Amino acid sequence: MSAQTEDAAESVPAGSRSQPQPVNAVSVSLPFPLSLYQTAVGKKWVMALTGIGLIGFVVVHMIGNLHIYEGPVELAEYAEALRDLGGDIIPRTLLLWILRFGLIAMFALHIHSAYSLKEMSRRSSPGAGRVGGQKSYAGGQDFLAADFASRTMRWTGPIIGLFILYHLADLTWGWFSWTDYVRGDPYHNVTSSLSNWPVALLYITANVALAIHLYHGTWSLFQSLGVNSPALNAARRGIAVTVAGVVLLGNLSFPIMVQAGLIDTDGCDPTCVPLQGEAGSGPAAPLTNGAND
Ligand code: HEM
Repeated sequence: MSAQTEDAAESVPAGSRSQPQPVNAVSVSLPFPLSLYQTAVGKKWVMALTGIGLIGFVVVHMIGNLHIYEGPVELAEYAEALRDLGGDIIPRTLLLWILRFGLIAMFALHIHSAYSLKEMSRRSSPGAGRVGGQKSYAGGQDFLAADFASRTMRWTGPIIGLFILYHLADLTWGWFSWTDYVRGDPYHNVTSSLSNWPVALLYITANVALAIHLYHGTWSLFQSLGVNSPALNAARRGIAVTVAGVVLLGNLSFPIMVQAGLIDTDGCDPTCVPLQGEAGSGPAAPLTNGAND
């Protein structure tokens, strides 16, 4: 044995050859079922199940926003109906707040599971694909299994996250002067915001990123949940294309139609009495339809 090999052998702790240490050892063992989340399979399940919830939200949100094509009164009535969920049985807006907390929890778990899975993968193969610290592959990279959508998940995810922050600041909190925010009048807020072409462009870009993310997410969640027979691939592909395509078409229609002047930005048809609400704060005067006054 050469001196170099002997040195290397001495630095390996006794018994470690027959009992290799797990690369992703956990520092604290959590009780069942939380312990499932400490495994890669558990994290995949959490990512898939929260993904299903978030897909449900974007589909329902897009369909709800289609009320914009009916007019300002109908869109405001829809927003009001969301606040009234639960009827007279529970306090007003309680159910909406429960749904909002559920949505926030799903976002947080989705992001955490995605990040910690990426970290697990990095720890498992620290040198993979790296030469001298740079990403480099001897024969170039061959993306047999990873298509464009799957390789860009780590970019489309943060783009969507940043878009949501902007979207809430603009349409829920009314922070930006260019939107001329009027509390309680979502039609006015959406059309006023999207009539600015940079905002419309931002919406288009973010929604293309969302469609790419939804396409790969919908495709791969089946695999995460263990449904990955080749016989089902065509159906999985069909569901992924349909979900991503429908959400993309619906959501792109809003900035495009406003920019094309096909959604009326003054928010009034001949029978509509425009809302007189206080910008940014305070209760809004109810939107009324002149025909019913
Ligand atoms: C592209 C078209 C979209 C339009 C026209 C639109 C419109 C709106 C409007 C009017 C609100 C209500 C603001 C309020 O009155 O408080 C809202 C809230 C919200 N939107 Fe969108 N949205 C769009 C896309 C999206 C997308 C793609 C996402 C997520 C990926 C999203 C996530 C949200 C969230 C999380 C809220 C807050 C919900 C709540 O307060 O309960 N929106 N959106």
